[in-house]
Amino acid sequence: MKSIVIQQPNRLDIETRSLPEPAVGEVRVKVKLAGICGSDSHIYRGHNPFAKYPRVIGHEFFGLIDAVGEGVSAARLGERVAVDPVISCGHCYPCSVGKPNVCTSLVVLGVHRDGGFSEYAVVPERNAWTVPDAIPDADAVMIEPFTIAANVTGQVNPTPRDVALVYGAGPMGLTTIQVLKGVYNVGQVIVVDRIEERLEMARQSGADMVINNLNQPLAAVLEAQGIRPTLIVDAACHPSILQEAVLLASPAARVVLMGFSSEPSSITQQSITGKEISIFSSRLNAKKFPVVIDWLSRGLISPAKLVTHTFAYQHVTDAIELFENNQRQCCKVLLTFNE
Ligand code: NAI
Ligand code: MN
Ligand code: ZN
Repeated sequence: MKSIVIQQPNRLDIETRSLPEPAVGEVRVKVKLAGICGSDSHIYRGHNPFAKYPRVIGHEFFGLIDAVGEGVSAARLGERVAVDPVISCGHCYPCSVGKPNVCTSLVVLGVHRDGGFSEYAVVPERNAWTVPDAIPDADAVMIEPFTIAANVTGQVNPTPRDVALVYGAGPMGLTTIQVLKGVYNVGQVIVVDRIEERLEMARQSGADMVINNLNQPLAAVLEAQGIRPTLIVDAACHPSILQEAVLLASPAARVVLMGFSSEPSSITQQSITGKEISIFSSRLNAKKFPVVIDWLSRGLISPAKLVTHTFAYQHVTDAIELFENNQRQCCKVLLTFNE
């Protein structure tokens, strides 16, 4: 089989590997589609501190079960599955409180263990979630990015009364906007980015108002309209944003952070406590695959709005470079693995 392997930073090979056999409790997935994410590019470029090389990247993937290991029912052969990249131990403290996404021995497919940019991948059976036939392949491959938004929104129970502010209209901001509007019916979703084309995508994903903060300060625009967000999601993730978000927030607002910057943010206790702001963070997803599959079945989200390009896996280098260099035209880029 062919696998996309990052041998070391900045060296990507399409390697021929022997077909892996599923171990006890595992299934082998014949991959059909995979999505390129910022973290794949970070591993490729050597910017992911968790990555070990060589590594088959890819943690957003969909395919068919074509072999099962010991202890797995043969009835699963042929199932269409989306794969949860989060592998957890099931018994540590975070696992015991429903947060396997921060398991003390967390393994993420495509980061700590070989992932889905490959013609075949072996994964634990319980990570392979059955996708109903009514959900098309191109939506199924987008389940993982929407689980991130499910996790973010699941921290804060959005309501129709909320005035939400989403920083960043990249793939993560857009999935979050769709969930805030389509699932939670949030009354007003405001989106801020510095790229006009991305703000247009935000509108198409349901944003009620978009603000370009390249040439105008966000604070002034919101103040002029008397808007005080009650729910803020930082899907842009610059360390300076937390301070601004807390300043702009309504009293009693919730703020969700998604970033992994190691740069400090500068913020006072008073700015948080004076309004009793709740600050949440969100990493990966905690058992959100069935949640997103349900949303797709009910037509509450529209993944196709995010997909701008599709490449055959043989052109993965072109696909990643386009993804990295063209934020105006590119959002989600998919790879096909049909031979
Ligand atoms: P992206 O880079 O495609 O999108 C970020 C967007 O934010 C861009 O459109 C950019 O123009 C905009 N932006 C940057 N600084 C801004 C500012 N100061 N004000 C307004 N807009 C600004 O990235 P993507 O894939 O959407 O991911 C967003 C972030 O989420 C990344 O930092 C990524 O590391 C993080 N992430 C976190 C996850 C988690 O589980 N916590 C999972 C996936 C991504
Ligand atoms: Mn991703
Ligand atoms: Zn655990």
